[in-house]
Amino acid sequence: MRVLVTGGAGFIGSNVIRALIDEGYRAYCLDDFSHADFRNIYELPCDVITADIRDGSVFKKLPRLDAVIHEAAVTDTTIDDDNKMMTVNLGGFKNVLEYCFKKKIPLVYASSAGVYGDGPSPMKEAQTPHPLNIYSYSKLMCDRLAGAYFSRRGTPLVVGLRYFNVYGPGEYHKGVSASMIYHLYNQMKSNKNPRVFKFGEQKRDFIYVKDVAQATVSALRMKKSTIMNVGTSFARSFNDIIKAINDVLGKNLSPEYFDNPYSLVYQNHTEADIARIKNALGFKPRYSLEEGIGDYIRNYLDKSL
Ligand SMILES: NC(=O)c1ccc[n+]([C@@H]2O[C@H](COP(=O)([O-])OP(=O)(O)OC[C@H]3O[C@@H](n4cnc5c(N)ncnc54)[C@H](O)[C@@H]3O)[C@@H](O)[C@H]2O)c1
Repeated sequence: MRVLVTGGAGFIGSNVIRALIDEGYRAYCLDDFSHADFRNIYELPCDVITADIRDGSVFKKLPRLDAVIHEAAVTDTTIDDDNKMMTVNLGGFKNVLEYCFKKKIPLVYASSAGVYGDGPSPMKEAQTPHPLNIYSYSKLMCDRLAGAYFSRRGTPLVVGLRYFNVYGPGEYHKGVSASMIYHLYNQMKSNKNPRVFKFGEQKRDFIYVKDVAQATVSALRMKKSTIMNVGTSFARSFNDIIKAINDVLGKNLSPEYFDNPYSLVYQNHTEADIARIKNALGFKPRYSLEEGIGDYIRNYLDKSL
């Protein structure tokens, strides 16, 4: 089966390509390399198409495909260009969606837990969304666009995956938008006290990218179009991350707390309700926070440990 992964040279996309190849699929990577790292894919046997998803003509030139996994997006939530966020994230998604509908092939796409904003936890797919920034709004609009087709007859499978906080190998190019785990590791590795917002008890549903890649590839087997959370169902604090990194590094660094400058637009607690993906695919994350951090540091960030 031939699967195209948009944003395939990025963090999650490259892990999805690896999972596809491991499962025997033939993978194609489409990326404009605007926020990617070739090192994520150079060892992977996949064809590479350098293209911008905003350009509709790109879709006329694609090879024959059996499915698309759409990961491409502007992912830096701190960028101050609402037009780019919307034209790439929503406009580009529309092009991908129209292509899949025209070819009648399944589409699995990346949405985000950002659509829930600071809404109540555990976060359920049906709860009222409350996006706190343009990035999350762009993802909500993708869900609405996709949702409008779910009940139409004759349309191919469309599955939206609301990823929670993903961390793991391949996120090194992401700068400020890389995971808390990556940033805290870098501080602690060089013996600096890890800096977190007061008082480190903000909780997030952190999920290891290997679990996310596995859930994403499994979603190709869905029978029905839908939107599903992809998380662990556990909310863990920044202090928990610091303890786990200290344990792996054999250190005892204390956190340094500072005021949160984003307190008005901040998700203080995210926790996925994963009943839907459990029921549909039997999905169960393989890595706890401690296991994910252990694998990430020992096998990728510091192989000398
Ligand atoms: N990392 C997370 O915690 C997280 C959480 C929720 C949702 N997501 C979603 O998962 C997907 C993958 O995110 P990621 O963390 O791997 O980010 P990433 O920035 O590493 O990957 C995005 C990729 O899309 C490519 N891209 C951007 N604009 C493009 C365009 N116009 N045409 C073609 N390619 C383009 C980039 O070059 C990059 O390779 C995104 O849709 C993101 O919104 C990620």
